[in-house]
Amino acid sequence: VLEQIQGINIYLIGMMGAGKSTVGQILANRLSYKFFDTDVLISQVAGQAIPEIFATQGEEEFRNLESQVLSSLCAYQHLVVATGGGVVIKRMNWSYLRHGIIVWLDVPTHCLYERLKGDTTRPLLQHPDPLTRLDNILETRRHLYQQADISIAINEDEKPSEIAEQIITKI
Ligand code: S3P
Repeated sequence: VLEQIQGINIYLIGMMGAGKSTVGQILANRLSYKFFDTDVLISQVAGQAIPEIFATQGEEEFRNLESQVLSSLCAYQHLVVATGGGVVIKRMNWSYLRHGIIVWLDVPTHCLYERLKGDTTRPLLQHPDPLTRLDNILETRRHLYQQADISIAINEDEKPSEIAEQIITKI
């Protein structure tokens, strides 16, 4: 089917720490697509790192910037886009995501926790109990992530390159 989807953007969605950026970069190389990470683009537009945006402008303004960046990517083809974990929250964002194929990287929260403990770059995890926080966030978002075109259930020992191959066989 790869020929049929020629050019269509691929959007990776899923929780913080799911590996969207790592897998996305590999996937983009494999398909000879360009890779973009919406968090990186948001930082560039705002001229601030993500925690600073949350601290000085608030989450709502961050979400507005996120929608803005996402909509601007619809003008392009041949992209693999790693989105921020919360991109699924805004209904409007789905019309941008539907511009391409949406792939959910479904990783259990205990794996996310192992990868993210001690992380200071995710404002939503600056919490006394990050594992419970991850569980709670996933439970509020799971029904949204499930709206993806393709879901990839990931276990601990899967390598990013193997995950990229799985995505290729499913699209
Ligand atoms: C967020 C995820 C982060 C970043 C921001 C909010 C979320 O992106 O956009 O901290 O709401 O889940 P990653 O999924 O790339 O960590």
